[in-house]
Amino acid sequence: MSVFTECQLSSGVCLKNRFVKAAMEENLADANQLPSQALFNLYQAWAKGGVGLIITGNVMVDRFAMTGPGGVVLEKDTPLDAFEKWAKQAQLNNTKVIMQINHPGRQVFKRMGGKVLSPSDVALNMGKHSGLFETPKAMTEDEIHDVITRFVDTALQAQRAGFDGVEIHAAHGYLLSQFLSPLTNKRKDEWGGSIQNRSRLLINIVSQVKEACGEQFILSVKLNSADFQRGGFDINDASVVINALAPFNLDFIELSGGSYEAPAMQGKSGDDRTLAREAYFLEFAKKLVSESSTPLMVTGGIKRLAVAQNAVEAGMSLVGLASALAYKPDLINKWLHEPELLGYIPKVDWKDKTLAGLANMSLVKRQLRRLGANKLPMNNASAFFSLIMDQIKVFRLTKRYKQHLNKQTQTN
Ligand SMILES: Cc1cc2nc3c(=O)[nH]c(=O)nc-3n(C[C@H](O)[C@H](O)[C@H](O)COP(=O)(O)O)c2cc1C
Repeated sequence: MSVFTECQLSSGVCLKNRFVKAAMEENLADANQLPSQALFNLYQAWAKGGVGLIITGNVMVDRFAMTGPGGVVLEKDTPLDAFEKWAKQAQLNNTKVIMQINHPGRQVFKRMGGKVLSPSDVALNMGKHSGLFETPKAMTEDEIHDVITRFVDTALQAQRAGFDGVEIHAAHGYLLSQFLSPLTNKRKDEWGGSIQNRSRLLINIVSQVKEACGEQFILSVKLNSADFQRGGFDINDASVVINALAPFNLDFIELSGGSYEAPAMQGKSGDDRTLAREAYFLEFAKKLVSESSTPLMVTGGIKRLAVAQNAVEAGMSLVGLASALAYKPDLINKWLHEPELLGYIPKVDWKDKTLAGLANMSLVKRQLRRLGANKLPMNNASAFFSLIMDQIKVFRLTKRYKQHLNKQTQTN
């Protein structure tokens, strides 16, 4: 089967091809944490560029718990006008769009403030950069139920705004992934211990979102194939979770890997295992696909059409691209006529792995800002300069976020 053939999802939605724009946090929300004109421009470029499905950058379910400044927030009372416009731009050219919804848990930079929650009070270990993060507070039962309600409220709001579905982010070391991992979940109650208990929060959220939004709304989960840390969530755990999700008839499960501590999604593992040069998680996904009744999508490192095609031939229903589409939003259209065209994924190879990871992200985010301003991406941007620019931007946006929070706290 060709990666260009259409894909019928279990919700009844038909995608025009199997290419998916994977989630990339844009940090382009307006001062009220709503979608901005820059986001409309950016998503229009992707919709016109040929992918069958777009997954938005992660949208927060709680304005007091943010992965970064300039992030979009959607809560139960958030006005929907800007979200409606956002969905419409992303749906041009017969493209479907789903909103990725997320809670950061402990992966919150100290400078952001707000709530820093996690299943247990295990701080991030980022070596000499650990001080950038707060030690999280172990969640109470009420806080766990509040998070479930928030995911359901946000999914319902996305549906009202015209999105075709949602993807629940349970990968990359954010809150749901923290519950799944034995390294961060040390709880002794029904939410910790066995993988059945560690996945209880995710399963509860999936079940309630499905019930609230119905069968015809795309529902997907992004899951780590492994944490890439010794003693962490591994492929056997992933297999159990995929089986536990089977009764919910998800449209697809997106497989990725890693966390802030071990950024495997950038092609670097936290232990000695090496990741394949391209399609980092394909080997894991191949092992999981034979046991999974849910369609799988694999994301990470894909920049060549032949590699995307290979993933489909290995049984993947969908193929996700992130960085390559920041540099060439119309890469899929181009591949129709130029199948050998090579996409670009930056690889900053500095000794300080944390700074290298941040520089990588800043290079990609710079392209997102350029596309948002209707400018062309820059292929040869300097990693160092992009990182400095990004840090200045983060500083300014964090200040704006704090002012916004203060106003909100005073009016509540
Ligand atoms: C700038 C940037 C922002 C990202 N934001 C998100 C996000 O919000 N949610 C998510 O699941 N993954 C996020 N990712 C990870 C990508 O979805 C993807 O898993 C990863 O970049 C590997 O794919 P790639 O090699 O095609 O870039 C982000 C990646 C980049 C580069």
